[in-house]
Parts: sequence; C-alpha cells; structure tokens
Amino acid sequence: MSAPKAIAPKDGKLGVMVVGMGAIGTTVVAGVHLIRKGLSKPVGSMTQMGTIRLGKRTEARFPVVKDFVPLVGLDDLVFGGWDIFEDTAYEAAKKAAVLSNEHIDAVKDELKALRPMPAVFDKNWVKLLDGPNVKTGATKYDLARQLMDDMARFKAENGCARLVMLWAASTETFTPVKDTHRTIPAFEAALKANDPDIAPSMIYAYAAIQSGVPFINGAPNLSADTPALLALATQKRVPVCGKDFKTGQTLMKTILAPGLKARQLGLAGWFSTNILGNRDGEVLADPGSFKTKEESKLSVLDSILQPDMYPDLYGDYTHLVRINYYPPRGDNKEGWDNIDIFGWLGYPMQIKIDFLCRDSILAAPVALDLVLFCDLAARAGMAGIQEWLSFYFKSPMHAEGLYPEHDLFIQLTKLKNTLRYLMGEELITHLGVEYYDYFESEKA
Ligand SMILES: NC(=O)c1ccc[n+]([C@@H]2O[C@H](COP(=O)([O-])OP(=O)(O)OC[C@H]3O[C@@H](n4cnc5c(N)ncnc54)[C@H](O)[C@@H]3O)[C@@H](O)[C@H]2O)c1
Repeated sequence: MSAPKAIAPKDGKLGVMVVGMGAIGTTVVAGVHLIRKGLSKPVGSMTQMGTIRLGKRTEARFPVVKDFVPLVGLDDLVFGGWDIFEDTAYEAAKKAAVLSNEHIDAVKDELKALRPMPAVFDKNWVKLLDGPNVKTGATKYDLARQLMDDMARFKAENGCARLVMLWAASTETFTPVKDTHRTIPAFEAALKANDPDIAPSMIYAYAAIQSGVPFINGAPNLSADTPALLALATQKRVPVCGKDFKTGQTLMKTILAPGLKARQLGLAGWFSTNILGNRDGEVLADPGSFKTKEESKLSVLDSILQPDMYPDLYGDYTHLVRINYYPPRGDNKEGWDNIDIFGWLGYPMQIKIDFLCRDSILAAPVALDLVLFCDLAARAGMAGIQEWLSFYFKSPMHAEGLYPEHDLFIQLTKLKNTLRYLMGEELITHLGVEYYDYFESEKA
C-alpha cells in the first residue's frame, strides 16, 4: 500500500462553466437540479451510483465512489456558461426537448436564472449554425481575455472556490494539428494575428488553462489536444481531458469489440448507421463537422482489435460509419450496426444491433462525472492529460508515443485503480491466487 496523495480540500462551491447550452448542456444542468430536489436519480453516473472494491474480496469493502474520494457534492455545483443564442437554459431545454415538460418545469426557476453569456463563435468552424449572442473583439487574443474576464466575474459573483470548463458546444470542422498549434509562442502569436487556424474551442481552452481552470472536451474537435495547449496545461498545472463523450453507438462498440477479441472471433465488417434529428445532427450534416466526428468514431475499432497483431482475424475488415440528419427523431436517435464476424474454420456469422438511444441522457452523467473528477484531479495536482478518464471518451487523449486505450473494461480498471492510487489503497490486479491452494512452496 502506498501513502495517499495530498489532495486539497473540496470546500466551497464549484462553478461549472458550460460552453454550449444545447441538448447536453441543459440536460446536465436540469438533471443536477432535479436530483438535488430528490425528484430523480443520477442513473448512469459512476461517481454517484458506482461502487469501488477495496482490499481483498473477503473484506467486503465496496464504498460508493463519491464516498471514497473527496468529490464536490451536487449541492455545491453552480452553473454558468456561454451560447450563441440568448435563450435561458429553460427555453433551451424546452427547444432541445430531451426532458419532459414535467421535468423541465420542476426546475423552471433554476433554469430561467441561467442566461448564457455571449459566446466566442466563428461560422467558418460550424457552417450550419449562426446566432446573435456573440462577442466581438479586435483579435482572437482579445476574445480569450474576455472569456477570462467572464470566468473571473462569475467566480466572484457566485462565491465559487474553483471552476471547471465543459465544452458541450457544436462539433467544429475538421483540422489537423498545424504549425500554429505546436508551441505556446506560435499559438499566442496566432491568437494575436487572428490566424484562421485558431478555432473558437481553442480560444475557450486557452482561456480556461490560462485561468487555471480544468478543461473537458465533450466534442471531437481538437480544442486543447494540441502540443501548444498541452504544454500550457502542464506549465499552469491544469488538468485537461477529451475528446468526444462516449455514448450511443460507440459505447456499444467498445463494449462488444473487446468481447469478440477476447474470444478470438474474427471480423469481416462493421457497418454503423445512425439517424438523429437534434441540432447536433443538423451540424453534422456539414461534411467538415462530420469528418471530425467520423475520425473520432472510426479510430475505436482498430485500436481495440489491433489488426497488426492479429492479421488473420482483423487484418481486412470494412468499417463504415454513417450519420443522417432526420428531424422527426429529435434527440432520440436510432443506431443500427451490422457486424459480420467469423468463427472456427472461418464460418461467417452476423450480429445486428438496433439501439434506440437517447443521446443526451447517456451523455449527461458522463459530463457530470468528468466535472467532479477533473476538479478532484486539479486538487490532487494532476496536470495535463487525464488519461485515466478515457472511460468517458470516444477519442481519449493520450501522451505522445502511446496508443489510446479504447477497451471500456481496461478503461474502467484504469479509472478505479487511479482512485485507489490517489487514496493510498492497494491496486487490484484480479489475480486472486491467495484464495486457493495452488503453490505448495508458497504455503505459510
Ligand atoms: N449528445 C451526445 O450524446 C453526444 C455524444 C458525444 C459528443 N457530443 C458532442 O457534444 C456536443 C454537444 O452536443 P448537443 O447534442 O448538446 O448539441 P446541441 O447542438 O444541442 O448543443 C450545442 C450548443 O452549442 C452552441 N454553440 C455552438 N458553438 C458555440 C460556441 N462557439 N460557443 C458557445 N456555444 C456554442 C449551440 O448554439 C448549441 O446550443 C456536440 O459537439 C456533439 O457532437 C454529443
């Protein structure tokens, strides 16, 4: 057993700065208020409902995660944020239509009190969207300063001890890492020169990191995942994590693919198609935004199945992902998967999945856990990429030279072992030989 890590106390209020008060943003905020009032349960949240085993199986120690690590309680969360529309969270929640009117009206006052601050927005990065609640500034650096001022003001006005920023805004168009994103000086010069390669999400990430505020990226766009911003995060001792909440079809993929691989069943093809009708779906109808999403969704299978290591099983499969904007479905999307697998002697088999899921219902608990864990990470002095939070992401950020870990069950073990490590509890390997009489020579 190692000594517990020094973790600063969780005292005081935690301000959650939500970028984008859309389907996910409002579902998180409304959900937390409903749970606080005792009107709902935090289903899907590992921090609130999950347990963690400590010590040997014979010890029967299984605390709930929130009782094991010092996480801020839901009563101590205060929400603020930005959107390109002026709607309060109440109006935005009604439009997103994820939650029932009954649920939304039960927390009407709390949602009405949340009016988004003017956003940093650039239509070049989200082609199919435009709105009036947008900041103006001479340069992108100036816009970043305005965001920093917003955060400082929010913190003071709401008496917050600390803040966390959550990007739950629309997916931006695809960009690879360019020279402007490689070093802190190049990035800052580009901000001051209004370089078109700096996306709004990067300006938010920069503002957060400069302000010492942990940054969570729920979308697939790069945002903080560039060498410049990661260097800044390390320099400023700020945790960052992303990208792209793992919900819906990809969640299913990362549950199923490790199982097929564990049993050495081969894969000939995996065809995934979705219909969804929310604003996210509308934005993803733009090829630029879709490419960002597609990259995020496609990377999952290769890194779980490791075709290089298993050429006979996974060396030649076809993986296609389609998303179609279909307004009647709203947030209740449908994802179909056709999976062509093969078994003993190469005999083919098929698996069909039809997941009628509610995207934001799956995403909200993920966002909540990330907010609480990132605040914990900050108080524990864990700067830079929080790879132990890969469990929650489709495209987990990782250190250079490492491949990302996509297998949900390895990610879960990593997350729980990190919590044990922080608290000075023994890591669990699941070896378990001590319960049996296998080795004569090791008998006491
Ligand atoms: N719903 C899911 O399960 C899920 C899963 C993984 C990732 N995501 C990603 O999360 C993000 C949010 O999803 P959603 O379903 O809530 O979408 P949404 O369209 O309902 O909400 C996005 C909100 O962001 C606002 N916005 C856009 N650009 C902004 C900017 N620069 N600053 C401030 N606000 C801005 C929009 O006006 C909108 O209100 C998307 O990028 C989506 O791809 C969603």
